[in-house]
Amino acid sequence: MKSKNLKKKYIEFFINNGHKEIVDSPLIPYNDPTVLFTTAGMHPLVPFLLGQPNPSGKKLVNIQKCLRTGDIEEVGDEFHLTFFNMLGNWSFGDYWKKEAIEMSFEFLTSKKYLGFPIEKLGVSVFGGDKDAPADEESEKIWESLGISSERIARLGKKDNWWGPAGKTGPCGPDSEMFYWSSPEDVPEKFDPSNSGWVEIWNDVFMEYDKDSSGKYKPLKQKNVDTGMGYERVFSILEGVENIYESSLFTPIIEKILELSSSEDEKSLRIIADHLRSATFLLAEKIAPSNIEQGYVLRKLIRLAIRRGKLLGIEDRFVSKIAKTIIDNYSEEYSHLKKNSLFIITEIDKEERKFERTLKKGMSVFGKISGEKVSGTEAFLLFQSYGFPIEMTQELASEKGMKVDLKGYKSEFITHQKLSRTATKGKFASGLADQSEETIKLHTAAHLLHSALIKVLGDDCKQKGSNINPERLRFDFSFDRKLEENEVRKVEDMVNKQIKDKVKVSKEEMNVDKAKKSGALGEFSHKYGETVFVYSIGKFSKEICSGPHVSNASKLGTFKIVKQKSVGAGVRRIKAILEG
Ligand code: ALA
Repeated sequence: MKSKNLKKKYIEFFINNGHKEIVDSPLIPYNDPTVLFTTAGMHPLVPFLLGQPNPSGKKLVNIQKCLRTGDIEEVGDEFHLTFFNMLGNWSFGDYWKKEAIEMSFEFLTSKKYLGFPIEKLGVSVFGGDKDAPADEESEKIWESLGISSERIARLGKKDNWWGPAGKTGPCGPDSEMFYWSSPEDVPEKFDPSNSGWVEIWNDVFMEYDKDSSGKYKPLKQKNVDTGMGYERVFSILEGVENIYESSLFTPIIEKILELSSSEDEKSLRIIADHLRSATFLLAEKIAPSNIEQGYVLRKLIRLAIRRGKLLGIEDRFVSKIAKTIIDNYSEEYSHLKKNSLFIITEIDKEERKFERTLKKGMSVFGKISGEKVSGTEAFLLFQSYGFPIEMTQELASEKGMKVDLKGYKSEFITHQKLSRTATKGKFASGLADQSEETIKLHTAAHLLHSALIKVLGDDCKQKGSNINPERLRFDFSFDRKLEENEVRKVEDMVNKQIKDKVKVSKEEMNVDKAKKSGALGEFSHKYGETVFVYSIGKFSKEICSGPHVSNASKLGTFKIVKQKSVGAGVRRIKAILEG
């Protein structure tokens, strides 16, 4: 198969096997209060994994843009990336292990699809522990397909268990597929710690729900959640030995080389990876800042800038690389071109900002001596010179020094109360947390959305939301502070719906009809795709997968407690329900 056909063939294969294609979600979860970024294709699907019916059916397939920074220190090796695409197929209580593994096997080995020789494959299965038994069923299925027992590894939870995405929620044992990517002979025995084996696909068998006490309860519905690393498989199909030599990356690497005066493979790769991620984040209108998504973005850009210095790049360069990325990826991702002005302006602004403190910070760092950079020193570098801690760690390790991370963190907590509150509630359940309070606030968020549009105008587009049992947070495009009377008007409108005991109703319709009916929501859905539309009386109508309360009267009193700006043209409102 030609690498350029990979996405098409994957979708086609699963559609032929009875799946419906759904569009991907943004990198910044649109309606998911649980996490900063979409880190896997299953993220937007959590409610359906927990048993809510999906309007598109029980078998789905898609390609999801993902961002993961958990492995950031591994970026620079052959196959790790922070931004990547995940090819995924799902079964919500439909097929189970046998069908899932058989389909994976067919796609991997059939000449019509990837055509990988079986001799180059290895798989791992869950080896069992106190929470769940060994996955003998999967092991037998692989053997029945011709994978020899030497090529099947039984591993523990660390390697062969996936989820939950937050602290609680659907999870289960998984079976991972590896491809031998090294030019050396394939070893008889499969050992995933040998770097010649690259993980390409993961079939997760979600049959448990982890609760807040850490217990694994069986899920009512058994699900399959799979994810294949697009860039990895693409590179294998191109016959190159690492992702950065594939045509997905060569134009970016060449542009960096053009601006560099020395060659350092690792720095080249890190710049290419980090600026690619930054470009895709900026394309969703997130600007660098000191909190949450904006901070991750800032970190990626600054780490790339530092690497640029190592390559001897003297002039500003990040916007030039971003432009190469936009030019190379826009055919497939039109939102890059559409938002190119924002991307280029913001990334350049960030480089200028960092320029003002980088030199001075480097000289401060240069004066630190001894075996360890203390917590106070690391914090000073962060606070006064904008050095991400990862950068201080890199600088320290180049000098053979360590950083007192614990000390840094405790300084951080003392000084950055703001930041601490900002991250509170993250990764802490959310969509998976379907508590009564969270659901009420979710309905309140819809009312708020409509009230904002009615009071401030149609330009108030939702930019994100985050809900926990205590409060809702709602980001929307608006470029000034709301006047006191506007805040009151919005509150009064929402509270009137509550007082009037307005009913909440749910309808299933295709996205075209939803759009015509005036429902709010992301219209990136595929033409003809079926969606749920939630209406709150005549006041609010929005595409959403729920859940919601049945009547607004259940909400109590709605109150806006805070508003502030969170970067270029985006305002944030925090609100609570009282009583
Ligand atoms: N959710 C699974 C993963 O990300 C498929 O590996």
